[in-house]
Formats: sequence, structure tokens, C-alpha cells
Amino acid sequence: MRTPIIAGNWKLNKSPKETQEFVDAIAGKLPAASKVETVIAAPAVDLPALVAFAKNSELKTAAENCYFEDEGAFTGETSPKVLSEMGVDYVVIGHSERRGYFHETDEDINKKAKAIFRNNMTPIICCGETLEQREAGEAEGWIAGQIKAALDGLSAEQVASLVIAYEPIWAIGTGKTATADQAEEMCAHIRKTVASLYNEATAANVRIQYGGSVKPANVKEIMSKEDIDGGLIGGAALVPESFLELANYQD
Ligand code: PGA
Repeated sequence: MRTPIIAGNWKLNKSPKETQEFVDAIAGKLPAASKVETVIAAPAVDLPALVAFAKNSELKTAAENCYFEDEGAFTGETSPKVLSEMGVDYVVIGHSERRGYFHETDEDINKKAKAIFRNNMTPIICCGETLEQREAGEAEGWIAGQIKAALDGLSAEQVASLVIAYEPIWAIGTGKTATADQAEEMCAHIRKTVASLYNEATAANVRIQYGGSVKPANVKEIMSKEDIDGGLIGGAALVPESFLELANYQD
């Protein structure tokens, strides 16, 4: 059984002080981790406050990015080794904002996935198509290509343990959610892609999130779909009450 995984992605929002206020507001209100795993991906500077809270709660933590080298002359980067030492659980990689604004390539993302595993954390690997690609009927091929490139060289065991986030670019921060059926269709396609690259057991274990304008009003319908195991949520995860509604969507 795949445990649902609801993850907030704060992007470039919140200070350490605001992080503390947020965790104070959600303390004692998260679902049991065995029922729904809850994660917050935060800017690196906010992670100490988040990790301190997570130690005594059900929350898991994620960095929003890291470099693929552990140390060296790489000014401005964040080390996966240090994130791991801090107690961070997950690292989001390949978000469309990083691919688009910061020119991250499939090859970088693959190297990062390996670096994250090497440091005993778990990657949340994002993929997604543009509206033009969808309208041209190219979305499925594009997504399969992104998945194949990101997973290159990973073992079946590693792939079974990681998380893939399907985030159609046209639905991110636009208020324009993919319909639950559109999201399910692509998440099922991703699972099939993993099965063809590895095997059925690996595909049955990998958790696949949908992301793009998920909010309390649509989370239940999205989570009711067979191949959707979670959400990666930006805007609606910034406010404690809204994050708690998302996390407790089963209640
Ligand atoms: P959104 O962002 O929920 O604000 O659309 C999702 C994401 O980019 O992860």
C-alpha cells in the first residue's frame, strides 16, 4: 500500500520567524504519518526551524533544491551532505521553475537524484509539460522522456522508494487546475513508464503526486484517483489552516 504524501512547496516565501509561527500553528494537528505523510519543502534558511519542529512531530521536511556535489568550489549552492546531516528527509528536484528560470537540465536532475540517495535522503522528482506541448499531443512523450532521464542509473529499489510529482506547467500558480481525470491520466502514464523501465512491482510502489493549483476545495477529488498518491502544493500550503485542511483531507 502506498501511503499518501501531501507536500507543501513554499518556494521563495517565509523567513525563519514566519516558519516558527507556521509550525506553532500546525502543532498537534497533523494526521498520523501512517495515514498521510505530510511534508514541507522550504527555503534552505528556514530548514533549521522546520527540522527542529519535525523532530517531535509527524512532519517530514524537504529542501527545494540541492547541488549534486557534496562540497567544493561551488559558490552559492547547497550541499546534499549538509542537508542530510541537518536531518532533512526529502529534496525536491526538477521543479519547472528551476528548469525554466535556472536552466536545470535533465542531466543535472539525474545527478542530483543520485547525490540525494548517496546522502540517505529521498528525491521528489518533478516533471511537467507546457500548454503548447499538451495541445500538440506531445505531453506523454515529453513526460516519459523526463522520467527516463531523471531515473537513469537508479536501481529498482531506489525508484520504488522515491516520489514523482507531475506538475503541468500550465496549472502551476494559475488557479487553472488540471481536471482530476487529466491528472490521473498522466499519473497512470508515469506509472506505466516506470513499469516499462523497471518492473510492475517498482511501478506499484513508487508514489506519484499531482501538483498545480491544488487547494482544500479540490484535494479530495484529486486524491480519490487510483494513480495519484499525493499533492505538491504551492500557494495553498502557505497558510497553516489551509495546509491543515489539505493534510487532513481524509477527515
Ligand atoms: P501551486 O504550485 O499549488 O501554487 O500551483 C504548485 C507547485 O509549483 O509545486
